[in-house]
Amino acid sequence: MRPLIHWLSGPAEPRSFPYSVVLEEFHRTGKHFVGKGFLAMLDSARRAVTSRAADDGDAATRQLTAFLDVALDKWDGRYDYCSYLALRLLRLPCGSDDPTPAAMAGRQSRDRLLVRLVADALAFELAAAARTTDFLPQERPGSAVVAKRCRLGVRAVTAPLTRLGLAQAVGTGTPASTAADVHAVARDLVFPGDPSLRLTMLPVHVTHDEYLFIRVLQSYECLFAAIADELRAAVAALAGAAPGTAADRLGYACDLLRAAGPLFSLLATMQPQSFRTFRQYTEGASAIQSRSYKLIESLCRRPEADRLESVAYQSVPEIQARVRDGQPTIEQTYRSAVADGRLSGAEGVLVARRMAAFAGALMQWRRTHLRLATRMLGMRSGTGYTEGTPYLAAVSATPVFTP
Ligand code: HEM
Repeated sequence: MRPLIHWLSGPAEPRSFPYSVVLEEFHRTGKHFVGKGFLAMLDSARRAVTSRAADDGDAATRQLTAFLDVALDKWDGRYDYCSYLALRLLRLPCGSDDPTPAAMAGRQSRDRLLVRLVADALAFELAAAARTTDFLPQERPGSAVVAKRCRLGVRAVTAPLTRLGLAQAVGTGTPASTAADVHAVARDLVFPGDPSLRLTMLPVHVTHDEYLFIRVLQSYECLFAAIADELRAAVAALAGAAPGTAADRLGYACDLLRAAGPLFSLLATMQPQSFRTFRQYTEGASAIQSRSYKLIESLCRRPEADRLESVAYQSVPEIQARVRDGQPTIEQTYRSAVADGRLSGAEGVLVARRMAAFAGALMQWRRTHLRLATRMLGMRSGTGYTEGTPYLAAVSATPVFTP
């Protein structure tokens, strides 16, 4: 506590904020159990930093403000999916005022972040197995599970590593050694200004598997954001002078989603009893609030009125508003391009095929998600205020494009 008191009594310089001390305090008990006195001090830190922000909106101030928003979400009573996963700190979409600095745009930066997130999850598994960390000490998995996690994690990043031209840096040794290779590669993928991952891990409890849960969700958010970028570009292409180029975008989006399959397998190694332990404290944070997922869905085609007005879209008000405002979709721009004669012949067939392939990949994602949720959750209700798996079963059959 002392370094924080010391910082508060000085000029509250964001660059010298004692992040390590704060992280240590949060990690000792889990975010849900951090003492009120400590949170009150962080609240004072936030006031100090906010009063500076008007004239000093530099990167250090922005980072500290975003970190304190994540740390104080439960204190403020606005804990949700975005703050649980620290999406703003990761510079992933999470609200109407999304930070999208130039550095985050583009396929490569998404691939780099994805590799870093998975590599970090594997590094934690290895450190816990080697007993070199006492972070999240409850319900540590056995060595067979750790080896399986390493194998699946390495598989989950094979595609992005290949795209980055770095696949050969990962050897063919034991699961632990290949995971260590991925971690070594990931260290070199940090560019100036990239988000610091250690600030984006604030579990609610002290159960080991929550680390994996958070990193896998963050990895999917990174992928969803990348897929949404491709679909937006596909819509623009279909509405423009070269509609055939939408096929490339749809193909890339489909490859991203299919190649991410091992992420679900990785999460399936989570111990159901561990999940049930920490989820007692995640009420209110649910991926039903994933803005990027609903953007993907609504960019394919306009959701039916009952879905648009349901909890599915009430949980992402800015996407709901965009749809109501007539956000153009792939389905609609494709039909117009065909009707206008701008898209025909082999090009038209290829776009249609890629649309069908993407729809297949998304339906597959939904089926796998439903299986995993059923395994982990049984008939318990969701943390996003739905009845749980019955909701997922009902929505998983919704067509991606109008049949
Ligand atoms: C232990 C694993 C998981 C369980 C038990 C689970 C459970 C659920 C449940 C019950 C819902 C319904 C909303 C609610 O009431 O919360 C839901 C929605 C959702 N989940 Fe998961 N989930 C898991 C993993 C994941 C992962 C790794 C992702 C990837 C980001 C994900 C993405 C989503 C999305 C996008 C929705 C919204 C679907 C829609 O509204 O159509 N889930 N999940």
